[in-house]
Amino acid sequence: MTALTPEMAKELKRQAAEQAAALVEDGMVVGLGTGSTAAFVVAALGRRHAEGLRFLGIPTSVATETQARSLGIPLTTFSEHAVVDMTIDGADEIERGSLDLIKGLGGALLREKIVAAASKRLVIVADESKLVDHLGAHTLLPVEVTPFGWESTARHLEKFGARISPRRNREGAFFVSDGGNLILDCTFPVIDDPGKMERDIRSVIGVVECGLFVGLATEAIVAGSDGVIRLTA
Ligand code: 5RP
Repeated sequence: MTALTPEMAKELKRQAAEQAAALVEDGMVVGLGTGSTAAFVVAALGRRHAEGLRFLGIPTSVATETQARSLGIPLTTFSEHAVVDMTIDGADEIERGSLDLIKGLGGALLREKIVAAASKRLVIVADESKLVDHLGAHTLLPVEVTPFGWESTARHLEKFGARISPRRNREGAFFVSDGGNLILDCTFPVIDDPGKMERDIRSVIGVVECGLFVGLATEAIVAGSDGVIRLTA
């Protein structure tokens, strides 16, 4: 794989997003992901809505909700629809084969995981730089924690071998998620069993959710310099 320039990565994200948006059918409830790749999906769905496709969106962040509303995409909630037909979202890492994921560099992992878990299909869109043989090779693992006692929660996470850095915004203040929580960016020496690590992390009091998405993605649409491929779990 050749190194991608930001312009190349952007174009590949757009190509993957266009293919995924074409999967949406009339009458579906659609989970709308978060991040730069998901934003291309929402833009494409905005165009399809303007052309007459009827669907309802469930956004995974305030940013995505704002974009969807600006495009006139009709939205719904879990009080009206318990099941999401298809969610299309980005990822920070996609493990080839299993399609287990690391998500949350955009800070929306909690809502993303709630929507993913309620979805019949979770379609991941990405450029080829996100495909890895083993999770954790290039990316931090974001863990969302309650602000109260986060230092204690962090110490417990360190027992699993993590180096921890609370995420900050450009001004140096703590980054606060849409749910009002903090994000701890965790570096683990190795993630050899994502399912066990997810269970271990979630067992720590104060952890709200972690960015490991194990067994949730049903397919991935990945764009590379040689074209777009579709992977299934
Ligand atoms: C946000 C996410 C994003 O989907 C992930 O960070 C990928 O973002 P991008 O498409 O901008 O590379 O999990 O919480």
